[in-house]
Amino acid sequence: MVTTGGAVPPFFAGLLPEGVRLGVVTSSTKTSADDHLTLLLAIGADTIGNIRVFPTGVEPVQPLPLFEPQRDNDFHAVFAKLTGSVEADPVGLAGVQPKVSAAMMSTPTRTRTGPALLKLNPVGYPLLVENEHFFMRMASACGLRAAKTTLLHDAHGRSALLVNRFDRIGQQRIPQEDACQVADLYPASKYRIKTETALTALADACGRGGGSRVTTLAELLKVVVFSWLIGNGDLHGKNLSIYNPDGVWQPTPAYDLLCTQPYAGWSDPMALNLYGCANRLTRSNFVEAGIWLGIRPRATANMIDAIIDAATSWPDRCDEIGFDDPQTERLAQLLRARLESLK
Ligand SMILES: Nc1ncnc2c1ncn2[C@@H]1O[C@H](COP(=O)(O)OP(=O)(O)O)[C@@H](O)[C@H]1O
Ligand SMILES: [Mg+2]
Repeated sequence: MVTTGGAVPPFFAGLLPEGVRLGVVTSSTKTSADDHLTLLLAIGADTIGNIRVFPTGVEPVQPLPLFEPQRDNDFHAVFAKLTGSVEADPVGLAGVQPKVSAAMMSTPTRTRTGPALLKLNPVGYPLLVENEHFFMRMASACGLRAAKTTLLHDAHGRSALLVNRFDRIGQQRIPQEDACQVADLYPASKYRIKTETALTALADACGRGGGSRVTTLAELLKVVVFSWLIGNGDLHGKNLSIYNPDGVWQPTPAYDLLCTQPYAGWSDPMALNLYGCANRLTRSNFVEAGIWLGIRPRATANMIDAIIDAATSWPDRCDEIGFDDPQTERLAQLLRARLESLK
């Protein structure tokens, strides 16, 4: 690869972390956010997927298992180690309310049970990891393949979410790309890409890679429907990915699913338009979207009905997240209204 001025092609820029952790890497390498190459060299030995970037003539530095649930009982200290930052407190940008994903602290780590991502509650986003844990479990219950999450608490009662990595099988690195990478877009475009563009780009890539185009579309549309159901306003181009664990390209298990509404005035639209709509979606929007994507209406209807069946008991369980009573009730109402919108 030849680059000038530190810029790299979109695929490689897509390997960089997002949000707060990008800021940490930027300040610890004393460079700017547009100096992709320096940033990549700093974190490129442990990227998502199987493409690593490290300097010529140097062995990639294998990160130490910095976090072990049995051993580490202070997440503040864990994040200081993981990020190499002295001010390890997850940062709240003064005066700015970034999108939820920009605020989330998440970083690769290793545990005795294998590689994982560790996510911590950022300042200003209470119960974010509890929220994600709840909706990731609901996703599994609704028939989505979803990453396995574990909720942890440290000695001070701080919580963190451990997400098992699906781009690792033992020591083996699994090829993986998100929708921006597949569509050859820089990560900055993650909120600008359309849902149909993201899904089609991912499905075409699966089709070219020995997998099924229409199965991929159907499975990804299910993630879109589920995200609408739970009020996840952060299903952007880096939260949809494909991987190749067994010689066939296919969608990854779903990840980063949570309800963004409590942090966005209860009026957060979908992150990406679906054929022009990001709000007030209904069953017919999804069935029509399915038709345009090449999925039979009956298949989309059955998929939605299965989600509704499995999801019906979940509004009553919202108290498991730990919001106060009014917030919990508001969330349950939102879920019930969204269930109705899908009928
Ligand atoms: N369980 C997982 N296994 C492998 N890669 C994952 C997993 N979950 C997320 N990723 C990758 O890591 C990136 C960051 O994870 P994500 O959960 O989206 O965190 P954030 O809340 O910081 O956006 C994702 O964009 C995706 O590429
Ligand atoms: Mg994400």
